[in-house]
Amino acid sequence: MYKILDKKLDKLETDSQQAYIQSLKSYVEQLSIEWGRRPTYFIQTFGCQQNENDSEIIAGVLEASGFVLAESYEEADVSAVNTCSIRENADTRLFGHLGILKTLKNENKNRITILCGCMMTQDQHIEKIKKSFSFVDLIFGPHDIYRLPLLLWDTICNNQRIIAVSEENHWHEQTKLPMARSRKFRGLVSIMYGCDNFCTFCIVPYTRGRESSRSYKSILKEIQELISEGYTEVMLLGQNVNAWGKDLRGKVEGPTNFAELLEAVAQNKELKRIRYMSPNPRDIDQQLIDIIGKYNNIEPHMHLPLQSGSNNILKAMRRRHDRERYLEIVEALREARPEITITTDIMVGFPGETEEDFEDTLDLMKQVKFDSAFTFIYSPREGTPAAEYDNQIDQDTITARFNRLVELQNAHSLASNQSVIGKEVEILLEGISHGDDNILTGRTADFRLINISIPAEIRKRLPEIAINQEGLNGDYFEGKYCLVKLTKAKTFSIEGEMTAFDVNL
Ligand code: 5AD
Ligand code: SF4
Repeated sequence: MYKILDKKLDKLETDSQQAYIQSLKSYVEQLSIEWGRRPTYFIQTFGCQQNENDSEIIAGVLEASGFVLAESYEEADVSAVNTCSIRENADTRLFGHLGILKTLKNENKNRITILCGCMMTQDQHIEKIKKSFSFVDLIFGPHDIYRLPLLLWDTICNNQRIIAVSEENHWHEQTKLPMARSRKFRGLVSIMYGCDNFCTFCIVPYTRGRESSRSYKSILKEIQELISEGYTEVMLLGQNVNAWGKDLRGKVEGPTNFAELLEAVAQNKELKRIRYMSPNPRDIDQQLIDIIGKYNNIEPHMHLPLQSGSNNILKAMRRRHDRERYLEIVEALREARPEITITTDIMVGFPGETEEDFEDTLDLMKQVKFDSAFTFIYSPREGTPAAEYDNQIDQDTITARFNRLVELQNAHSLASNQSVIGKEVEILLEGISHGDDNILTGRTADFRLINISIPAEIRKRLPEIAINQEGLNGDYFEGKYCLVKLTKAKTFSIEGEMTAFDVNL
């Protein structure tokens, strides 16, 4: 039997979270003595960077309580899955993971299993978990992360089984939970939560709730903390990031629009790269474009979801931009910042999409020539208006269109990457390549992914700590800058050769 917690958080409950961390800590200390080792945790995160940022809080609370990070579910005493429901494949993957976790729980009943994230706000999933995966110990929603210490206390120390999925409540500014950041190169800063747009295909407004902006002061405070920790790149996050402040207007003093916030962040000279994800064409105005043109440390890159190039489909999607406005924004951005790269999200197979609509998408892609794009097949999401439309497109047509879309985009991506070959650029290193321990990966200011080899004369001047038995030590390189000569373009990345390391750029 699960204990179902109140849907509404109250202020008293959030005030006591620091005390719960202390209690957990004493409990974990006892356990460590008993076991002769520290208890461990592992978090699997699906979905967007906001989920990643939430997982950083979960990790932060667990680490502050004395848990240490494990490498897999198998090695973890506490396993958490932070779920995503944006497309079907994101949510079906959870049930595969639950299979593994069930086996592990059967082996050892003391293991704790936690589920959180967007899927947990949907009743049908909760019912399925209660019925078929009732070994799960704790379920909480995106709005409940700020009472996590209490939830963990009751689950881990009091053996309770809990479901806590609240309606919108944003006490995050009061509770100030610890955060264990997963990257040394890019500090994620959630600046707003939820979305008010209700695009007809999208589940986000139902799972993440209405738009709610964090206060200007607390965002800038977090930015200062990141700077003092040595971060030179930050990424402002929101489902609709440039709607920041709209819900604060008339209610608070001080800046209440995204352009002003971005400018305030850009005035921190210690920050070399300011990113933001994802803006919506609907909320882009000239003021924002001017700020992007004015500050060099705002990334010369914008990820601007298009979805479709057909005005009929955009209307049916309830996107509040049309192709003409989209092109106008692209032109204004390129005028303000000629070197800017523009990337996007495009979807095929939205209900009612005709061949002509699809051709409009290809046509717009040819006009813009996106530097790269995430391409998606429309997936009906239960509870959204479009899932009910009776003009769904058949799979063969969708697959054929998708292949044409990808082919065109790949050609554009490759051409874009070819256009920078021969240049020497500044790279912020992210670690070592998955496939090769002697290759580093990093990004240009305009967000191109670069795989970097190190010539012998630079390698021999590297300190001992930079190299380990397997090859390069990714930890050492993460967050450092280097100069790279770009040598070979591929569709999704570029190869380059390091020309200078750890330069003070
Ligand atoms: N089907 C397919 N793609 C979707 N996206 C959002 N909802 C759906 C859906 N139901 C895509 C959009 C969005 C990106 C984050 O995911 O392109 O911009
Ligand atoms: Fe979903 Fe549209 Fe909101 Fe983006 S703007 S999160 S696609 S509803």
